[in-house]
Amino acid sequence: MSLLIVLVLFLQAVGALPPDEVIGYLGETVTLPSGADPSRNLTTIEWSIFSNTTWIATRRGKVTKIERIPRFKGRLSLNITSGDLTIRNLRKEDEMKYTVNLDPKQEAKGIRLIIKQHLQKPTIETLFRSAKEGGCWLGLRCSSQDEDVDFSWKIEPPTDPRQTQRERGDIFTFLTNTTTDVQFTCSTSRTKENVSSTFTLKSDKVPTGEARKPLPRNRCTLGFPICFALGFAIPVVLYMCRENISTSC
Ligand SMILES: *[C@@H]1O[C@H](CO)[C@@H](O)[C@H](O)[C@H]1NC(C)=O
Ligand SMILES: *[C@@H]1O[C@H](CO)[C@@H](O)[C@H](O)[C@H]1NC(C)=O
Ligand SMILES: *[C@@H]1O[C@H](CO)[C@@H](O)[C@H](O)[C@H]1NC(C)=O
Ligand SMILES: *[C@@H]1O[C@H](CO)[C@@H](O)[C@H](O)[C@H]1NC(C)=O
Repeated sequence: MSLLIVLVLFLQAVGALPPDEVIGYLGETVTLPSGADPSRNLTTIEWSIFSNTTWIATRRGKVTKIERIPRFKGRLSLNITSGDLTIRNLRKEDEMKYTVNLDPKQEAKGIRLIIKQHLQKPTIETLFRSAKEGGCWLGLRCSSQDEDVDFSWKIEPPTDPRQTQRERGDIFTFLTNTTTDVQFTCSTSRTKENVSSTFTLKSDKVPTGEARKPLPRNRCTLGFPICFALGFAIPVVLYMCRENISTSC
């Protein structure tokens, strides 16, 4: 008796199953599974949309039709072995419920197609960067074109967590070790998706085009003294030397 009740409840639960959900991405391709028993040869495959059963792709006997309505023109293919329907070049309007009928008879199956857009890579901007005794203050902002994303930062090598503060996409940190590169990677994520961008704080700041050689100086204060020395102080000294060749130089 109790077994029967369990069985009835089980069957009810099966009957009440929501349609399968399949996720597709804008402009990409998705395959909707028919769920056909692979050991049997399908004689009829009928994919339809809307409550008035508008056929979009069918195979009856030996005749396959996949150009039944304009909205899917050139974007469908039907696997006559598995009964699976492939939709290419997905559009937002493709988001709806699809139903498949098969012969040999199988329970009609509904599939809800959800169309999503891939996450865009986040952007990292420098909020501030200043040298202080014994290190460097750095503030970075990570932003995303996508809505409702979570931000996470990964710092390599890790900085002292007691001197690092995060707030949504922003990160503020004090770096004491300025002799190695520090890489800041910002990831944005949404359910089932995760993309990231990286910002590297270089240990040496060599202008492009010059030979890359490590400079044992604080990376934050490097730029100005070197430019000053190369661009102004040295030429001035050389000029003075040339002009006053007789004086001690
Ligand atoms: C399916 O079709 C193949 C070839 O057309 C045949 O050999 C096979 O016996 C069929 N299977 C069933 C279960 O009807
Ligand atoms: C079925 O419904 C769709 C949308 O509701 C409509 O565009 C289409 O004309 C209908 N087809 C028939 C045959 O009534
Ligand atoms: C059709 O589906 C079968 C079974 O899943 C698979 O082996 C075959 O490669 C598919 N054919 C095409 C053209 O995708
Ligand atoms: C996203 O991916 C990065 C790198 O693979 C990982 O560090 C981060 O924890 C991931 N975030 C989420 C929320 O899955």
